[in-house]
Amino acid sequence: MLLRGERLGEISEDVLEFISSREADRWIFEADLLVDRAHLVMLKERGLIAPEEFSKIVAGLDGIEEEMLGEGEDVHEAIEAELISRVGAVGGRMHTGRSRNDEVATCIRIVLREEVLCLMAEVNALARTLVERAAEHAESIIPGFTHLQHAQPTTLAHHHLAHADTLLRDFERLRDSYPRINKSPLGAAAFASTGFDIDRDRTAQLLGFEGLVENSMDAVSTRDFLLEALSTTAILMANLSRLAEELILWSTSEFGYIELDDLFSSTSSIMPQKKNPDTAELVRGKTGSVMGSLVAALAICKALPMSYNRDLQEATPNLWRGVTLTRGAVRIMAGCTSSAKYRCDRLEESAGEGFSTATELADSLVRTTGIPFRTAHQIVGALAVRSESPTIRDLDEAAERIARIKPSEMGFDEEKLKTALDPKKNVALRSRTGGPAPSETRRMAADRKKKIEENERFVEEMRGRVDRALESLREMR
Ligand code: ARG
Repeated sequence: MLLRGERLGEISEDVLEFISSREADRWIFEADLLVDRAHLVMLKERGLIAPEEFSKIVAGLDGIEEEMLGEGEDVHEAIEAELISRVGAVGGRMHTGRSRNDEVATCIRIVLREEVLCLMAEVNALARTLVERAAEHAESIIPGFTHLQHAQPTTLAHHHLAHADTLLRDFERLRDSYPRINKSPLGAAAFASTGFDIDRDRTAQLLGFEGLVENSMDAVSTRDFLLEALSTTAILMANLSRLAEELILWSTSEFGYIELDDLFSSTSSIMPQKKNPDTAELVRGKTGSVMGSLVAALAICKALPMSYNRDLQEATPNLWRGVTLTRGAVRIMAGCTSSAKYRCDRLEESAGEGFSTATELADSLVRTTGIPFRTAHQIVGALAVRSESPTIRDLDEAAERIARIKPSEMGFDEEKLKTALDPKKNVALRSRTGGPAPSETRRMAADRKKKIEENERFVEEMRGRVDRALESLREMR
């Protein structure tokens, strides 16, 4: 690389480009103006700048738009330069008692909390879609798999509620991380705080934060809140990718369980008959990118000595990439799942395939004859080798061979056999807590709906607090 700068202190274009954060700083432009305002209000209240100076500087900030900004290695520098060009040297008072180090950490937290609130609302909405669809399909029998082999029958409701519960835990993780994000580092200055008589609690309050990242060294140097957000989104994406994978599999002609809406599918440029599940595939693919963002940010933050190091700047774009991809994926999945058509006949037919009622047959043998479960397991296992729909005679024959008993003479009649082999009746029997029986999934769906409403209220409450604080801040002249 050709470095055109000649003397120390004279910055070359290549170096400037290398150390610049301007591209990612687009994310924090608005937040930086808010931080400037809050800091100025506090400086005025503490008598650190005169009221006329305050008014002049704030009026200067008022008209600044992103496109107006000139050069500068970051948005903080560029805004200050633009301000000074508008209001003169007095604009230079704005940076009293602060540093770009506390400034940037504050900005990231302001934007991230907004992103996390949006993501929470979106995750909650996806969970709602899944719960609603579950409630419509309490009676829809589907095959349940382990190892992707037919295992036991279950219902669409049971399946969708499982994904909904997963997402509700993702919501909880976001909610739990929120108070750690929403803390103010402002006033920590470079790291050693400042000798000016500033009021950190006041700027925190003005910006809608709930408390401080108190230790000024910790405040500027930690990005653990960012790592936590990326961990949470990476886990969320890992969960979402499981749902995406099923949409992909289930829409193949081999499964034929669902049809995705055209809106969420694409066709092939060469094969006219094709309808591809591209959106679900990209959710699966973007999961890899979000995981990559987490790993990149972790690697950047690892082993950094106290306190601020410029490496930290390199972590931030990974955060924005991670949250953007995650939010997009959550929204797409809500559309995909709410518009997908289930082929219930095919699902029900498939539910009985692969002798999926074998477990229930063994269980009912135990309940009727009193033989140990392991013996019943052996008998049904022997039957399964021969046929997926055994007769009572087959059963007697296998039981006789394995355990020297004849179930038909112990009260296990045709009727009991038929019941055990009926997928729908299998499901109805499984009414214990968390099971697929319609009574149980209806209970769970109603319970989750309540939870989702509580979650909604939480997001609204948090958003309301932030909005109210920022609204009054914007009005301060
Ligand atoms: N742009 C930097 C970042 O994103 C903030 C500025 C701090 N720069 C500095 N040289 N101390 O972290």
